[in-house]
Amino acid sequence: MGGFLPGGAFASGEGPRVDRRRLLLGGAGLAAGATVTAGWTGPGGGHEAAGDGPVCHRGTVLHFTGDPGDREHGNAHTHLFEDGALVVHRGHVVYAGPWESRPPAARVADHRGHLILPGFIDTHIHSGQIDAVASPGGQLLPWLKKYIYPAEMRFEDRDYAAQASWDFLNILLSAGTTTAAVHTTTYPQSTEAFFDQALRLNLRMVAGKVLMDSGGGTVPDAYLDRDWRHGQELTRDLIERYNGRRGSASDPYGSSRLCYCITPRFAPTSTLRALKAAGELYREFAGKGEPVWAQSHLAENRDEIDLVMDLFCDAFPGRRLRSYLDVYDRCGLVGPRTIWAHCVWPDHEYHPRPRKCRHRHRGPARDRQVLRARGAGVSFCPTSNLFLGSGFFRLHRTRDAGVPVGLGTDIGAGTSYSLLHTLGDAYKAVQLGNGFPDRLPEPRRHTLTALRGLYLATRGGAEALRLQDRVGSFQPGMEADFVVLDLGATPALRRRVEAAQSVHDRLFALTILGDERCTVATYVLGHPVYQRGHSPYTPFRA
Ligand code: GUN
Ligand code: ZN
Repeated sequence: MGGFLPGGAFASGEGPRVDRRRLLLGGAGLAAGATVTAGWTGPGGGHEAAGDGPVCHRGTVLHFTGDPGDREHGNAHTHLFEDGALVVHRGHVVYAGPWESRPPAARVADHRGHLILPGFIDTHIHSGQIDAVASPGGQLLPWLKKYIYPAEMRFEDRDYAAQASWDFLNILLSAGTTTAAVHTTTYPQSTEAFFDQALRLNLRMVAGKVLMDSGGGTVPDAYLDRDWRHGQELTRDLIERYNGRRGSASDPYGSSRLCYCITPRFAPTSTLRALKAAGELYREFAGKGEPVWAQSHLAENRDEIDLVMDLFCDAFPGRRLRSYLDVYDRCGLVGPRTIWAHCVWPDHEYHPRPRKCRHRHRGPARDRQVLRARGAGVSFCPTSNLFLGSGFFRLHRTRDAGVPVGLGTDIGAGTSYSLLHTLGDAYKAVQLGNGFPDRLPEPRRHTLTALRGLYLATRGGAEALRLQDRVGSFQPGMEADFVVLDLGATPALRRRVEAAQSVHDRLFALTILGDERCTVATYVLGHPVYQRGHSPYTPFRA
């Protein structure tokens, strides 16, 4: 493929900041004394040692410092350098900008012709479902019972959990994903296995043990926490051992990248006491200045919501239950660093079946305002919403309400680990959402642009998880997790990209036709951890 962005760029002068200098081909322009490396020297080798100088990655560099869809500031949030440089020192970004203006570097990794983006951030995924992805038939509740609980129960076996977590993380890296918000399983050993493997790879991961103390006859007793108190004790122990854990042999800079996430599966599998205990833990650690994260599912499926309203309608005496979100909110679980998956039907924006109880639940629609006021984030999981027939997430309404949104694969209901592939379904879900349940008038119809999509997959995820001061963009000081993408990875994508007339066209083709095959290399804290052609199934040796 020729340069990444031959020709056009943005048609008018009104587009995002684009450095229009054409991408150079060949080796001209390297700093005197610099060495050119291919960027990859195999697992465990070629890592930038602590004493090494800065490394300059040359290629087309794109990152966001805010939402490009923001009406006022969108353009200022977009940073694209056709002939760009990303300079990394001691695992952190020191410079992202035009090649010509780069600071001195000891080495140059030449990625010309490829796109360098911040590592993708998957805001909702289940490590315990690695072997249940693509299990057919049924909407959420029967699907969970038939496939998911049995699959997650295999994680009781520590060896299985260790190997599965290792494979899971390597699959993520092969898709260019460097940070994820992960539900493990109810077994604490599966959470330990996950964190231990993430620590070996030095990843910034947000994860937690699943809390479930009530199955309503759908969850095998053996897969439930003994009781709410036991679930809380196990969670506290894991927080104390893993949240912000410092240093390791492979972590020479003493950074602490593991983030504990309190993880009640969803309201129907928790007692009210367990949800309150989860909220108490979340607030306790925030109060101690050692904040933890929290995550769950919210308003994904209409049968699920009806169930929640039946289960919890009398739970808060004297106060009418307003919505599904209200359950979590009254338990003190909704706040900064909390991420809510799906949110397809906030305020039950559908015609609910008549309640068994005597209450009327349709109060004013306020869920998005509550999420915004609490500083909580939402995970948009389009492949999962389509696979389980859950519905269409209202991306624009949610963003317009000021709620941070990231993208989630939701493996195993989701059908791809690749956030590029997920963006393809996100685009289609937004298109279809214009017509369901009612056809929206033309001025109220929306579409998902490539820039906004790539923002959701990177910086948007970081904002939803409140990690934007660490990952998700290339501002100086950020942790240097990034992915190198090939827009000529498949014949179909290559031809489409070569025929494209503008940067938007090329990036749009990437979001519709791209997937993990586009990942040339993935870097974590400046170290190469994946390279195309090397199996992601690196044998795991305990
Ligand atoms: N709601 C509760 N558990 C799950 C799960 O594992 N996947 C999805 N998609 N929704 C859920
Ligand atoms: Zn999920």
